[in-house]
Amino acid sequence: MDKPAEDVLIPREKIQAKIQELAKEIAKRYKDKSLIVLAVLNGSTLLAADLLRTLWQEGLTDIIFDTIAIRSYTHGTEATQEPELLKNTTLDLVGRPVLVVEDIIDTGQTLTTLVKFLQRRHPASIEIFTLLSKPSRRKVTLEADYTGFIIDDLWVEGYGLDTNGKFRGSPDILYRKAS
Ligand code: IMP
Ligand code: MG
Repeated sequence: MDKPAEDVLIPREKIQAKIQELAKEIAKRYKDKSLIVLAVLNGSTLLAADLLRTLWQEGLTDIIFDTIAIRSYTHGTEATQEPELLKNTTLDLVGRPVLVVEDIIDTGQTLTTLVKFLQRRHPASIEIFTLLSKPSRRKVTLEADYTGFIIDDLWVEGYGLDTNGKFRGSPDILYRKAS
C-alpha cells in the first residue's frame, strides 16, 4: 500500500468541530484542576496537538502533557496478542487527574492494558478520550468518557492513524474499502 486511501470517511471540518465540542466538556470538567494529558503514540499525536490548543482556547491552561507508547499491532491490520508498553511516562501521577488521548478504540485491548498499568500509579482519576471507536470489534468491555465518532468495522487512516506506518498526515480521516 504505497498510496493513501481515496475515500473520505470524516472530513477535517467535522473532526475539528467535534474536538471543539468535546474540549468544551473537558474544560468544564477540569476547571480549576491541574490535569495530566497522556497521548498514546504514535496515532494520537495530531489529535493531541489540536485538542491541547482547543482546551487552551476554552480556558484550560493548567495541563502537563506527556506521551506514552504501547504496541498493539505489528503488521497491517493484524493484532498482536498482548499489547506491549514501549514508552512510559516519568510524571508523578499520584492524586492527579489523568486524561488519556487515543486515536481509536478497536478491540479495546490496548487501552485496557494501559488503564490497568496507570492505575498502579494511583492517579486521582483516569478518563479516556478517543476520536474514533469501533464498538462492533470490541473483545473487552471498555468505553471512553469522550468519543468523537462511532464508526463501522472499516480500516481507517489519516489524522494520525496509519497503515503500515504511513499516511498519518492526512487532515481528513480516510478509509479503505475491503480488498
Ligand atoms: P485495540 O487494542 O484493538 O483497541 O487497538 C487500538 C489500536 O489499534 C489503535 O491505537 C490503533 O493504533 C490501531 N487501530 C485499530 N484500528 C485501526 C484502523 O482502522 N486504522 C489504523 N489503526 C487502527
Ligand atoms: Mg494507536
